[in-house]
Amino acid sequence: MNFTNKNVIIVGGSQGIGLATAKAFIQHGAIVLITGRNAETLQKAAEEINSPNLQTLAADTSNMNGIAKLEKWVAEGGKKVDVLYLNAAIGVYAAIQDVTEAEFDAQFNTNVKGHFFTLQKLIPHLADASSVIFTSSRVATAAGVTSSVYSASKAALNKIADVAVNELAERKIRVNIVSPGPIQTPGLLSVVSKEIQNFLASRSALQRLGNADEVANTVLFLASDGAAYINGADIAVDGGSIQYMLK
Ligand SMILES: NC(=O)c1ccc[n+]([C@@H]2O[C@H](COP(=O)([O-])OP(=O)(O)OC[C@H]3O[C@@H](n4cnc5c(N)ncnc54)[C@H](OP(=O)(O)O)[C@@H]3O)[C@@H](O)[C@H]2O)c1
Repeated sequence: MNFTNKNVIIVGGSQGIGLATAKAFIQHGAIVLITGRNAETLQKAAEEINSPNLQTLAADTSNMNGIAKLEKWVAEGGKKVDVLYLNAAIGVYAAIQDVTEAEFDAQFNTNVKGHFFTLQKLIPHLADASSVIFTSSRVATAAGVTSSVYSASKAALNKIADVAVNELAERKIRVNIVSPGPIQTPGLLSVVSKEIQNFLASRSALQRLGNADEVANTVLFLASDGAAYINGADIAVDGGSIQYMLK
């Protein structure tokens, strides 16, 4: 895969899957902007990647000011975007009876509204035949207890992606979804005990958690010329769901 001088934007790229994807794009020649809310985490990511091809921008995608900041950065740079990777999300797990309005709004503002309006504002800046990729989740089609809001936010994101496929096709822009299963990232490890990690690993046919590089590889493939006829796909990166047969 060759992304030499391709302009890539990763919304939510300072750690975990987004950071692994930034590293992979840079290894393949791309010029990458990563965003996140926390300037220190962005700085740490920049030191880790240590490449003149990496730029960072502190911008909160959950509100219109943060989105406007990103749009301004792109407009002032004057370069068309070749890959837009909408990856940021937050998850708060609670039973429906316990979810607060603030928890609901925070998840929908980041996971749905933020990506919707980032896409809207950046559409004029996307190159023709560019690639838009959303990070959803396997939980978008599951119904695990305590995941109502997070799962619903990912299901909503999937539908936005579905419609974007059709609306952007005129400009040959491809829109795809990557849906990870449990992946070892700071985001997952901060909310899930070792016991739950082992349980999640046991639910994968491969009997392990995934790592961020494995999702990054999928994103790069979807953005590459090798995926030129892949549009509207939702690719699971979850090691396969285990299926048992009763003997
Ligand atoms: N890890 C998993 O098991 C798993 C499974 C399925 C799906 N996913 C999805 O994969 C994506 C990445 O997950 P991850 O585990 O890598 O998460 P992570 O380790 O928590 O990293 C999330 C990234 O998004 C940024 N971010 C969060 N809120 C933001 C906001 N409002 N504005 C801008 N940036 C924001 C974070 O930076 P700041 O905190 O500094 O803003 C960070 O760079 C998410 O969409 C998640 O839902 C993950």
